[in-house]
Amino acid sequence: MVELAMKKPIIEVRHVNKSFGDNHVLKDFSMSVYPGENLVILGKSGSGKSVLIKCIINLIQVDRGDIVVLDTPIQGLEQDELDGLRAEVGFLFQSNALYDSMTVRKNLEFPLRIHWTKEQRASGAEAAVREALDDVGLLHTIDMMPQQLSGGMKKRVALARSLILKPKVILYDEPTTGLDPITSREISHLMVRVQKKYNATSVIISHDLNCIEITSDRVIMLIDGTCYADDTLAALRKSEDPRIKEFFE
Ligand SMILES: Nc1ncnc2c1ncn2[C@@H]1O[C@H](COP(=O)(O)OP(=O)(O)O)[C@@H](O)[C@H]1O
Ligand SMILES: [Mg+2]
Repeated sequence: MVELAMKKPIIEVRHVNKSFGDNHVLKDFSMSVYPGENLVILGKSGSGKSVLIKCIINLIQVDRGDIVVLDTPIQGLEQDELDGLRAEVGFLFQSNALYDSMTVRKNLEFPLRIHWTKEQRASGAEAAVREALDDVGLLHTIDMMPQQLSGGMKKRVALARSLILKPKVILYDEPTTGLDPITSREISHLMVRVQKKYNATSVIISHDLNCIEITSDRVIMLIDGTCYADDTLAALRKSEDPRIKEFFE
């Protein structure tokens, strides 16, 4: 913690408030994410984890507060500036969000169509697709359709797609939900491996203790819209606070 506090955050969320009608989801929520760490955000279903992660890439706009990502305050960015920032922040959706009508190759090329020039794509797309697929151990699926893949394989392809632009930050929304325990462990180890390879920073939303155990350097608990606890998994496990304990029972 002391070490972390001396580093400059790569993401800063300061006093963020977000409501939907009467539903006050984030209440003065603040957190910092430091370069190279794997930070897990743990919270009950409906506690606002997805809302928070979407605020970080401005898919949802905050009502109040500030979010700074890679030194860039995200509120009020023009669309092209936001696109530029999104190239550096990979997002793995809970649903994977693969295009069912496209091959794996085409799915992976998709971000390149937005962020690379025609010339860059002509010379580098194939190699980039192959490298990203190889990173997740699925080079052999390059010409397959998403329907031909298992749940775990789809998750890997979605991860490969979020790696293709070599992001500095990777945001994962419940990366192991719906997967069997073995696949879920494999995906968790893979997340750690890609984080090391790309020297990236990860923010991982999860309530899967296996995944948290494998991936987390630090855990933030989102309770009642606030950052209720912020510590290592080992320290949180020892807590006597009933609201923290209930996650480990
Ligand atoms: N676009 C939206 N419009 C209205 N309410 C929303 C929207 N997105 C999320 N919510 C509400 O915000 C709360 C937190 O949702 P969410 O962040 O998805 O929870 P979780 O922690 O399970 O990811 C829920 O009550 C949800 O219904
Ligand atoms: Mg969610």
